[in-house]
Amino acid sequence: MAEYVKLIYDGKTYELPLVTGSAGEKAIDITKLRQTTGLITLDPGFANTGSCSSAITFMDGEKGILRYRGIPVEQLAEHSTFRETTFLLINGKLPNREELDTASERLNQTSLVHEDMHIVFQNFPRNSHPMGILSSMVTALRSFYPELPVVQEEINITVMRLLSKLRTMAALSYRISVGHNIVYPRHDLSYCANFLNMMFNSPVKPYHIDLDIVKALNIFWILHADHEQNCSTSAVRVVGSGRVNLYAAVSAGIAALWGPLHGGANQAVIEMLSGIKESGKSLSQIVEKAKDRNDPYRLMGFGHRVYKTYDPRAKIMKKTCDKILGKLKISDPLLDLAKKLEEVALKDDYFIENNLYANIDFYSGIILRAIGIPTNMFPVMFAIGRLPGWIAQWKESMDDPAWRLSRPRQIYTGPVEARYIPIDER
Ligand code: SDX
Repeated sequence: MAEYVKLIYDGKTYELPLVTGSAGEKAIDITKLRQTTGLITLDPGFANTGSCSSAITFMDGEKGILRYRGIPVEQLAEHSTFRETTFLLINGKLPNREELDTASERLNQTSLVHEDMHIVFQNFPRNSHPMGILSSMVTALRSFYPELPVVQEEINITVMRLLSKLRTMAALSYRISVGHNIVYPRHDLSYCANFLNMMFNSPVKPYHIDLDIVKALNIFWILHADHEQNCSTSAVRVVGSGRVNLYAAVSAGIAALWGPLHGGANQAVIEMLSGIKESGKSLSQIVEKAKDRNDPYRLMGFGHRVYKTYDPRAKIMKKTCDKILGKLKISDPLLDLAKKLEEVALKDDYFIENNLYANIDFYSGIILRAIGIPTNMFPVMFAIGRLPGWIAQWKESMDDPAWRLSRPRQIYTGPVEARYIPIDER
């Protein structure tokens, strides 16, 4: 039986249908609200607003649950690879061996970047932030790879190009930024090993591919692969709703992810920890400063719009930190500091009352440091991980009959009517 809620307004009673998701969460369907009542809703930051129905990722913020196509992220981190999880998110099922091998072959075939793009990369100022380069060059892919006439072919090849080339472009921009030779992708290496080799191989010191590091990178990217309607995914959906090409929509996602409140937080956490270490301040002083409403200082890597308990990804990330640092025999003072800071914060009433726990970004940077990734590339690493989620969400929106051009309304608060005043009268 259809469920609904009643809205009483201006002496009338309206019935608004209730929508129930497959995991039981409920929403008021307001698609006809303005048409029937003249009213709109107001929800800055969209904390209470669903933008779509989606079958890709399920999160329960109160219980700390995250599942991709129903599979708990813990199982995927333990048993899957990033390539396999990418296939799951985009195609809605785990691949069989033949499907996985075919996808790998196609990723290899599309892993090179047009040689003329190298020239463009080389002309960015050396101190450019890699996220700015990446966002620009992803849009530029449309110029170097013009649209195919057959829609489905265009989508398939664009998806493969993005999945394969984003990784190549990230390594390419890093090599150029440090003045090193460009390392090309190799046919004999797996997705993650190829990236590491493109980043660190040297003519004078061949890069040793450590399978524990490859496993840690797979886990890192699996944990970042999707997260329902977060800021950058919403940007991809909103920009994509104008029916622009997927390169431009993904470029918008990269730009949205760059911010320190979102995907840029992993870089901000390391900068915060380094700052704390240099400041000589006690951790209690740091936590007090983060609590001060008059001080813009925040504990980066803490808090989340959806998780009001421990981010399940942070738990796995922390365990992976211990494992990979132990294996590489690295003792990173910032990891010890992070653990102590988390301990102090989790005992603080303010953090407890506001449900502020470590999120994925709090420990992720420690793993990247151990691998040798430079700090300003941390958001790029997030972007490579999130790309399959952006693509899956974009495809779902393009196939959704209910999906339309995104165009929110507003409540106007400016002057109701004014007249033009000639300059000599002002
Ligand atoms: C990601 O959405 C996703 O799914 C994102 C993500 C994904 O995978 O796509 O999970 C990735 O972006 C993780 C979040 C990374 N960002 C950070 O770590 C930056 C630090 N965190 C905060 O800026 C904040 O927690 C947000 C932005 C993440 C969430 O902010 P909200 O939901 O808008 O919460 P809020 O600002 O309303 O906070 C409620 C209260 C406020 O206090 P009062 O003003 O009411 O007294 O908690 C306080 C906030 O000031 N607060 C913090 C805090 N986060 C919130 N106080 C100190 N330190 C913090 N980190």
